[in-house]
Formats: sequence, structure tokens, C-alpha cells
Amino acid sequence: MLLVLDRSDSLPLYRQLSQQLKGLIENGTLAPGTKLPTVRRLAEDHGLTRLTVQSAFAELQDQGWIQSTVGRGTFVSAQSSGPPPSRLEVPGSLAELLQATDRPARFQLAQAAPSEEFYPRQEWKACLQAALNQDGSLNYGTIQGDENLRSQISRILLDRGLQVPPEQILITHGAQQGMDITVRALSKPNQPVLLETPCYPGALELLHTLSRPCLEVPVEQMVKAVEEQCRRHRPTLLYTVPTFQNPTGLLASPAQRAALLALAERYDFYILEDDVWGFYNYTPSLPPPLKAEDRHGRVIYVSSFSKTLMPALRLGFVVASEELLQSLSQKKHASDLVCSLLLQRGLAEYLKRGNFGPHLSRIVPIYKQRRDAFHQALLEHAPECSFHLPPGGLSHWLKLPAGVDESALFSEACHQGLVCARGAAFYPMPRAQGYLRLSFGGHKPAELEKAAALLGQLLRAARQRPRLRGNPLV
Ligand SMILES: Cc1ncc(COP(=O)(O)O)c(C=O)c1O
Repeated sequence: MLLVLDRSDSLPLYRQLSQQLKGLIENGTLAPGTKLPTVRRLAEDHGLTRLTVQSAFAELQDQGWIQSTVGRGTFVSAQSSGPPPSRLEVPGSLAELLQATDRPARFQLAQAAPSEEFYPRQEWKACLQAALNQDGSLNYGTIQGDENLRSQISRILLDRGLQVPPEQILITHGAQQGMDITVRALSKPNQPVLLETPCYPGALELLHTLSRPCLEVPVEQMVKAVEEQCRRHRPTLLYTVPTFQNPTGLLASPAQRAALLALAERYDFYILEDDVWGFYNYTPSLPPPLKAEDRHGRVIYVSSFSKTLMPALRLGFVVASEELLQSLSQKKHASDLVCSLLLQRGLAEYLKRGNFGPHLSRIVPIYKQRRDAFHQALLEHAPECSFHLPPGGLSHWLKLPAGVDESALFSEACHQGLVCARGAAFYPMPRAQGYLRLSFGGHKPAELEKAAALLGQLLRAARQRPRLRGNPLV
């Protein structure tokens, strides 16, 4: 058996051994059922102590790669007996949402994005002009992104409880590109990826396009579900939005965060942490991102300025170890060379002038007011639905009462001028599970009250009629 162990490597020998054995199992060199050499034999052949080999075996057994039977020896585990990862079937959920957000409507609750009235137009105009006056701004710039912008991002991330040097930041076209290059760099086609559900449709679309089967982990029981999936499968990556999850708005507790990090270490997978909503906080205290507690370089953190400033900037960033950033940069470069230097410099200027903090301090309380008003109105007009007060973000996730058909209600709501997102758009196998996502950012409290009243009427009408078959893509 060809094993190359490097005693000068900082990775402990037992870990090197377990990772190489895992690699041989993954690439089929060690097929299921193959008997492994004894601990003694492996130790002698490779100049290791028996304890080192035993530790490697213990780790592999713990993760389900091998099984030991007293008196018989140690064997590569048979293939998983659990359900196979699902092939994603995404019938343009993202396109459907984007289309919906473009529809003029009385109540536009489809888009989870900042309201146009709060875009910092004047400041942005001045900063863009300043960038235009700088030498070289109309050139390509570097792959990793403008140095001043990375320094400014490193500074504002301190407010999210994350201390990272500019060298560990890569500028991307929105968070979406950060997700794309991470999935490409850290997994291969047909390798399963752990995916929280319900889930941001952009992640579904991405995994579908890149042919990554998904292992669903219900967001309400993430830790347990991740562990169960890892016992049966070998995921290389978990995609999660631990802070104000889209669409549910849930916030993972410090204990859940610690448990996820421990599982990543135990089962040897990376975590793609999406934090685009992190600054939309309505609670008095917020746990820091997973990345802040990432001792082993397992977390790739992505975020952007789409939600905090304006989506049209298309500027986001990835934070990862410098080593990982190399392969992520390569994927980005191959896809679009660089992000616009002009826009990056405009944004660096905006952040340098100290505009970002005051902008957030102005808008977040306004959205909090809208959230509260909408919540109250939903309690009054749609008490038969289940929902919670989202601790952050811009959406309410509403569970419809039993007997109300999600597609039919969604169609009828759109028809009556209340455009929202149907629950099925947030699941890998589009299935109506009786949910609607209502994003409240674009309306004032009085309008939200009217939207809730209309929804209440539609709900009552839906419960009185026999089940309608709706066309979900109205
Ligand atoms: C959870 C999540 N991630 C990523 C994105 C896309 O972000 P960006 O516009 O930065 O690409 C969104 C947009 O709604 C989102 O909700």
C-alpha cells in the first residue's frame, strides 16, 4: 500500500495516515469489503508506532469509513445503507423569484433586498467620481481585488466579530460568485454537498448547475442531521447561513455553531458560511460568525454589499486561509478575470469616508420597525398561520394552515397584487410544503398592515373553497 508520510508536516502522523487511507477508499483503490493490513504490519512497514496507526483507525472507524471485528480484522465499510443523496431538480426557482421581483404589484414582497429608497445614491455618486479621478481605475487591477478595498473590508468585519487580515480576503462578484468558486474548488461533480433546507434558491441553482447531489439537512435540526448524513455519506462541504437564514430568518446559537465546527473537524468537511444577512441584526447581541471560531481553516466565509448597500454593486468577498484562497482565486480568474476596479475603488472610498456604519445605523432600525409592524399585522390577520418573529433579515416565513394549497394561494395572491415567494422555491425537489416567504423591506408599516389584511382574506377564502389547482408560475 503506497502511503507517503511527511514527518516535517505540521499535520500529526495519525491524521496524515487517516487522510491517505480515506483518499484510497474514495478513489476506489481500497474497495468496500477490502481487508486492511493489521495495526502491527502497517506500523512496521511505515516506521510508525502502533498508537499512531490505532489512532488513525479509530478516527476512520468513528467516521464510518472502516469497521473492525474482533478476531477477523479491519475492513473497508460497505457502501452507505442510507438513502442516496438527492439529485437536485430546480425548475428555475431563482429565475422565478427574480421574475417575481420585477413585477409591478400593489404589495411587492418577493424580493429579500434593501428598499430602493435607502440606496446611498448621493454618497455613492461622490465616491465613484473620486475613484474615476484616480490613476489606473479603468484598468483591470489584480485578481485578489483592490488592496484598499480589502483593508476596508477587514476593518468593517471587526464589527461582525471577525478579525481577518486583508491577505485572507478575495473580492468577488457578489456572494453568489464566492459560493460558486468555493463549491468548484472544494468538491467535484457527483460529490455530495450538505445543504440546509429550506434554502436560498441561489445555492440550489448553483449545486444543480454544477451537478453536485445534495444531502438535505433540515435547518431546524441542523447539528443532528449533519451528523446523521456524515455517518452514511462522505460530504466534502456544508452550505449554511447560520445568521438570519434565508428564508426562515433563524439564528444559530453559539452551541450549535460550536457543534457544527466540531463535526466539520470530526468528519473532515469544509463549511461554506454565507453571511450576507449578518448586518441585519434586530437583537441586542449576536454570536460572531463561524469563521471567527475557525481554528482549523475549515470555514470559507462569503458575504457582500448587496443587502447592506445595493445589489447593483455586485461586489462581495470571500474570507479563507491564504492557501485555500489560492485555489479560489484561480477559479475566479478562470471565470471572469477580475471585478471592476472602478467599482471596487468607489466602494473603498465609500468605506474609507466612514459612510458604512452611519448608513446601517440609519436603515436597520427602520427595517426593524417594518418587521415589528408586519409581525403584529400577521398575528392579527393571519392567526391560523405559524411563524416566528425573525431576529434579523428582511423576511417572514409563514407556515400555512393545513388544508390550504400553497400553489393555489400563491397564484391567487399574485393575481390580487400581493407578490411573494412560494415555499417550494426553497427546496431541492420542488415540493409545496405549505409555506410562503414574505419580504417586508420595501413597504412602510401602514402598507404592510394592508398586505397582511389581504393575505388574511385570501386565507379565509382558500379555506372555504375546495382545493384549487394553481399554476405556480403565474
Ligand atoms: C443567503 C443569500 N446568499 C447570497 C445571496 C446573493 O448575494 P449577492 O447579491 O451578493 O450575490 C442572497 C440574495 O438574496 C442570499 O439571500
